[in-house]
Amino acid sequence: MRVDFNVPFDSEGNISDSTRIEAALPTIRHLVEQGAKVILASHLGRPRGEKNQKFSLKPVAAELARKLGLPVIFLEGCIGPEVESAVRGIHNGSVVLLENLRFHSGEEKNDPEFCRSLAQIPEIYANDAFGAAHRAHASVSGLPVLMEEKVAGFLMERELDYLGGKTEKPERPFVVILGGAKVSDKIGVIDALLDKADSIMIGGAMAYTFHLAQGFEVGSSLCESDKVEIAQKALDSAKAKGIRFLLPVDHLIAEKLDFGAGSTGEMRVVEGNFPEGWSGVDIGPKTIELYKQEISRARTILWNGPMGIFEMEACRDGTFSIARAIGDNVESVSIIGGGDSVKAINLGGFADKVSFISTGGGASLEFLEGKLLPGVAALG
Ligand code: 3PG
Repeated sequence: MRVDFNVPFDSEGNISDSTRIEAALPTIRHLVEQGAKVILASHLGRPRGEKNQKFSLKPVAAELARKLGLPVIFLEGCIGPEVESAVRGIHNGSVVLLENLRFHSGEEKNDPEFCRSLAQIPEIYANDAFGAAHRAHASVSGLPVLMEEKVAGFLMERELDYLGGKTEKPERPFVVILGGAKVSDKIGVIDALLDKADSIMIGGAMAYTFHLAQGFEVGSSLCESDKVEIAQKALDSAKAKGIRFLLPVDHLIAEKLDFGAGSTGEMRVVEGNFPEGWSGVDIGPKTIELYKQEISRARTILWNGPMGIFEMEACRDGTFSIARAIGDNVESVSIIGGGDSVKAINLGGFADKVSFISTGGGASLEFLEGKLLPGVAALG
């Protein structure tokens, strides 16, 4: 079973967020209950085809055993005769975690020989690694093609249902909140959602590119001046399609933003032009109210990307207010689309108030853009 146990570690080497491990538990438990030998395979980080203890999955095996309440056998390889014989020797109902697939260059290259070596191990292939489904790698793409029996795990099914089914035929109004740093990262998603959503609200640093497109000065804010045309096109297309496309009406700006030091200098709320040298750090209070109103009347909500620099306490009001407003709308189906908005929702303690939190970062964005993900395609 391919899982995405690509989890973050803190500076002391402890797993700092085990959401992805927890998300795979239902499928693992189900398979154990069915008496399967569950052989889990994952990548961790980007070791670039070389064995590197820094990227070993061994600590993940320990964390998985704790969460599962069952022993997890960790094998120090993922292919070859030793792994095959170790797997043959274990009892039905046992759980095994293989070492990092990316210790072999064949994984990322989708090398046919590496695929064949992997195929020696299981009888049935399951994919619960939605987070890696956008990678055409051996364990995601080449291996399932060689397997006669292949299935999607429960997590994969839920991801496809929430990010796909529930946004394809949404209960209306369908309200989308998009934030994050770059218009270029989200433009594909914006374009795809312009055909489905009733309203789209923009926040985060990408709002400054839209602000530029509207002819305003943005001071020293993070923005993509070469993407102004793309932003303008999105605005025009929303207008033509009759979609409510909301941009911030006010902004929180900082005089001396120093992200590394965690300091902002003086802060102000502005509408229109930003003074020279000042940087946008969050949406302003009027925007928060406007967006909250829109969220409160939604029946389907999709949120991807923070509204400001939520990592800094002084700049997180926008992001946390949006998270709270989503959680407060108990009538809606609310979907949090991976990456930083998931971090924000966990940090703010709103995780149990939303319908679904995606485990995919890049994968959820590509899926929302309407792309057929290699890992999904390979399941047939
Ligand atoms: C992720 O964290 O988005 C997935 O695990 C994919 O990892 P990658 O970007 O290193 O391929």
